[in-house]
Amino acid sequence: MKREIMRSANFAHDAAEYILQRARDTLATRETFRIALSGGNTPRPVYEEMAKAGAAMRWDRWLVTFGDERCVPPDDAQSNFRMARESLLAPAGVADQAVLRMRGEIDPPHAAHEYEERLDLIAAENDEAIYRHDLLLLGLGDDGHTASLFPESTALSEGERRVVANFSPSMQNWRITFTYPLINAAREVCFLVNNRKHADLVERVLAGDTRYPAARVQPGDGQITWILGT
Ligand code: 6PG
Repeated sequence: MKREIMRSANFAHDAAEYILQRARDTLATRETFRIALSGGNTPRPVYEEMAKAGAAMRWDRWLVTFGDERCVPPDDAQSNFRMARESLLAPAGVADQAVLRMRGEIDPPHAAHEYEERLDLIAAENDEAIYRHDLLLLGLGDDGHTASLFPESTALSEGERRVVANFSPSMQNWRITFTYPLINAAREVCFLVNNRKHADLVERVLAGDTRYPAARVQPGDGQITWILGT
């Protein structure tokens, strides 16, 4: 596993450029760029920059998934899909059929199974044992969670499933989330983190302190990139 750490005083711009360049690199050799978007607040300005800077991007060759979703309808202010649609998907003109939305509005285990089956079908069509993202974006929560893999939650010990419903003890609510098997199958994982908020936590995660779920993201034959806003 290769690791790269980028520190940036122009976080949104630099992260956006990095992601767009990874898309160009991938599309130079493969038909589709498979990206998983992260949720929360940090990525919004990055996605807005991507939409602005990506006029020449072949968005029609992107396949967009979500690392996790809150169990709310897609038009809810808390929805990660809504945030991505407003900041990137709509402004960039990414077609609906290129976006695999987690249905947060239905029963969480059903939504997780449904999503997992969609990814498994694409993997099978491409003779892959598991769906491989080209670039899987992640954030970092105050408690060291990533996606919706929260400390002391059952999904942390999931070693087979790719997508599960997970109850967050700290937030006292359900989420749908990628598991470590799916995350660690990615060709590249990229953490987007506002380091001003998390500097000491980032150091502990980078040191491999597995008390923090983010520290257990270890893409076997992939790369981990950290883009830290300073
Ligand atoms: C979510 C995210 C979650 C997020 C972190 C950081 O659905 O909230 O997937 O993992 O990335 O909580 O959130 P902020 O970017 O808002 O700090």
